[in-house]
Amino acid sequence: MEIRTVTEQDRDELRALFTRAGEGSPTESLWGHPESEAAIYLDPYFELLPDSLFVAVIDGSMAGYLTGCPDGSLLPSENERMSRAISRHRLVVRPGPARFFGRAMLDSMRAAIRREPTAGELDDPRWPAHLHINVELRARGTGAADALMTAWLDRLRELGSPGCHLQTASENTRAVRFFTRMGFVPHGPTPAIPGLRHAGKRVHQQTMVWAP
Ligand SMILES: CC(C)(COP(=O)(O)OP(=O)(O)OC[C@H]1O[C@@H](n2cnc3c(N)ncnc32)[C@H](O)[C@@H]1OP(=O)(O)O)[C@@H](O)C(=O)NCCC(=O)NCCS
Repeated sequence: MEIRTVTEQDRDELRALFTRAGEGSPTESLWGHPESEAAIYLDPYFELLPDSLFVAVIDGSMAGYLTGCPDGSLLPSENERMSRAISRHRLVVRPGPARFFGRAMLDSMRAAIRREPTAGELDDPRWPAHLHINVELRARGTGAADALMTAWLDRLRELGSPGCHLQTASENTRAVRFFTRMGFVPHGPTPAIPGLRHAGKRVHQQTMVWAP
């Protein structure tokens, strides 16, 4: 197994991995349109922060990736990226995505009426860095995810980062256990994520933080 940062030649293979690596997790598909999902959660990292994008290569093919960001100010916010993807990919007129965003709007309105907290990005100077990690089925439980995380946390130590956060689903118990083993601790409330359902049920955002 090799852990390394991406190169321009990895673009197509990484994009293909992006569409399958989340398989089985509560966030495996958001609105069922991989191109626009990649425009938010992969492409900006590839274009703007290639030194923080690590891949795990097993037997010559890519099996996992970690998109890191040392500081949120280096990327457009998730909301900005989402708004751009919605208009560029005309998501409101595509049936699957339109259903998702319609449901998200209703979920958000309901939460506002009930004065419940809503899911959102963490903006806290104690943990300015963040990451997303996905390892495909064949590479889970092999140490590939551990190696990707170790590479990223070592890089943050080198950069002198004060800390890192991530956001997963509290229903994703395997991921929460994995992140806990890597030194992350739960932080803040676990609000429902607007629009998202897994096996017909609501999915809740779990923020976790780490400091060197
Ligand atoms: C979350 C995720 C990254 C965790 O990676 P993982 O490899 O499944 O991590 P796990 O902790 O479950 O498995 C690690 C196992 O490998 C073992 N392991 C660690 N290093 C190893 C090595 N060098 N060789 C062999 N096994 C190793 C660990 O001991 C552990 O086994 P245990 O649970 O019996 O103790 C991965 O499951 C995944 O990508 N899931 C789908 C997408 C997802 O949920 N992403 C996160 C969304 S925020």
